[in-house]
Amino acid sequence: MYQSFRSVKLVDPQLVDGHLSYFLGAIGITGLTALLGIREKGNVTKGANQTMVVSGAAGACGSIAGQIGRLDGCVRVVGICGSDEKCRALVEDLGFSAAINYRQEDVPARLKECCPGGVDVYFDNVGGTISDTVIAQMNNGGHVILCGQISQYNKDVPYPPPLSDETQDTLRSKNITRERFTVLNYMNKADAALCELSQWVKSGQIKVLETVVNGIGSMGDAFCSMMKGGNIGKQIIKISE
Ligand SMILES: NC(=O)c1ccc[n+]([C@@H]2O[C@H](COP(=O)([O-])OP(=O)(O)OC[C@H]3O[C@@H](n4cnc5c(N)ncnc54)[C@H](OP(=O)(O)O)[C@@H]3O)[C@@H](O)[C@H]2O)c1
Ligand SMILES: *[C@@H]1O[C@H](CO)[C@@H](O)[C@H](O)[C@H]1NC(C)=O
Ligand SMILES: *[C@@H]1O[C@H](CO)[C@@H](O)[C@H](O)[C@H]1NC(C)=O
Repeated sequence: MYQSFRSVKLVDPQLVDGHLSYFLGAIGITGLTALLGIREKGNVTKGANQTMVVSGAAGACGSIAGQIGRLDGCVRVVGICGSDEKCRALVEDLGFSAAINYRQEDVPARLKECCPGGVDVYFDNVGGTISDTVIAQMNNGGHVILCGQISQYNKDVPYPPPLSDETQDTLRSKNITRERFTVLNYMNKADAALCELSQWVKSGQIKVLETVVNGIGSMGDAFCSMMKGGNIGKQIIKISE
């Protein structure tokens, strides 16, 4: 169905129960990024008593990734995000075990509290200080899913941005993997993954959050707002019924 994301695609409305905007998010590139990132780089194993941490957890990718982590078998999924309202949504609406507001709380202390057995899998959307803090609390043989580094996107640095020596040392000494991940390299797995996402959404096992604004004229403001955390879930621009 998705031959390539660089050309026009024919989509099957049944996959989204008629909710067409899901093709842009949970049952589109966003959901694929979360699912394939976890499957390709996360080494999540049922019965392994793993703890997952997700940064950017209330955003489009992060909100889906945390739910998939739980469905794939992590016993504890902790989200990090930028407001109390987002924390509440993660725990009460999406089933995260706990959530940390990085703007208000002491992230290292709260992580210790929420992840008493350390962190096994880290789905990283943000990079920077938050990621240094999470990686410092990871267990031996852990896995970082390098989804994105949004905290560094306005800096003049290459991708992925260089890590501090301390974080590099932690990765090396604890044998933690952190490989580049680009969803577009796995499009041969897209059709099967979209079916899986569709079933989870239809059955209610994955809940989808969106922030909708009206009119194509709102596009620029909505994009800037998304980059600053104005969205919960996928930022959508509605241009017609
Ligand atoms: N690897 C791939 O193939 C692939 C594909 C698609 C997307 N991505 C990446 O996935 C990540 C999420 O993208 P998305 O489209 O789902 O966007 P999103 O998470 O819906 O929106 C971005 C979120 O990032 C957070 N943020 C912004 N600046 C931050 C900062 N300095 N520190 C911490 N958090 C910050 C904001 O939430 P708060 O309120 O929590 O700050 C904001 O809501 C991005 O890094 C993107 O590049 C990767
Ligand atoms: C699972 O890990 C937690 C720490 O995260 C630990 O307290 C608990 O004993 C472990 N359970 C099993 C069954 O190994
Ligand atoms: C390091 O991790 C890799 C991949 O997770 C694993 O195959 C390897 O056995 C580990 N090495 C050691 C020394 O634990």
